[in-house]
Amino acid sequence: MRDGIKIAPSILSADFARLGAQVREAVDAGADWIHIDVMDGHFVPPITMGPLVVEAVRRVTDLPLDVHLMIERPEQHVEAFARAGADSMTVHVEAAPHLHRVVHQIRSLGCRAGVGLNPATPLTAVDEILPDLDLLLIMSVNPGWGGQPFIEATLEKFRRARRLLDERNPSCELEADGGVSPETAARVVEAGATVLVAGSAVFNDRAPVGACLAALRSAAAAALPAEGLA
Ligand code: DX5
Ligand code: ZN
Repeated sequence: MRDGIKIAPSILSADFARLGAQVREAVDAGADWIHIDVMDGHFVPPITMGPLVVEAVRRVTDLPLDVHLMIERPEQHVEAFARAGADSMTVHVEAAPHLHRVVHQIRSLGCRAGVGLNPATPLTAVDEILPDLDLLLIMSVNPGWGGQPFIEATLEKFRRARRLLDERNPSCELEADGGVSPETAARVVEAGATVLVAGSAVFNDRAPVGACLAALRSAAAAALPAEGLA
């Protein structure tokens, strides 16, 4: 997006029978990153996709692949995801007791390192690691499924995260994940998010991917001050 807000369609809601075509539609419509939700059936109930899917998406686009690891023992898998073509990898603070080690492992693989927080996990959980992060992902739904309603109470957490990052790590991206739609995008951007993940608002049977992405983009842009627009 021209004004600095990045939109990252999540392929979790895409039609997997024609995944390549769906990714191309998102790319052609101006997606900034492609968000890939990896779930292991342990940290979250569903099992979704692994490095093979990242590798397949990598063949379709040069856009940054933003891999969201909702998995236990992420340290055992980050190398495979890096080899498959991930550009950024986000691990969950609730699933990674040795957070410092895995964040630096991700960076040593040449990828941007992110940490994700569930809705009930306080921001203080990332206090010590904040300066080392390229990406802070705040879940605005409980992870596991696409299409859930945005949890309004997380807006205050975004505001506090914005203030913390401005003070301590201003170049770190602040990513909103879950329930982001044309109805909620403006409020999340106002609260300080710089990356919007959107699954069901982009891939659905109500409208083509291009129209969905355009609606999201204009909703997000409406929240920015005029001087922020290119
Ligand atoms: C949820 C995933 C999200 C999901 C978002 O556990 O981390 O990335 O795809 O889907 P929507 O945008 O439909 O809430
Ligand atoms: Zn995600």
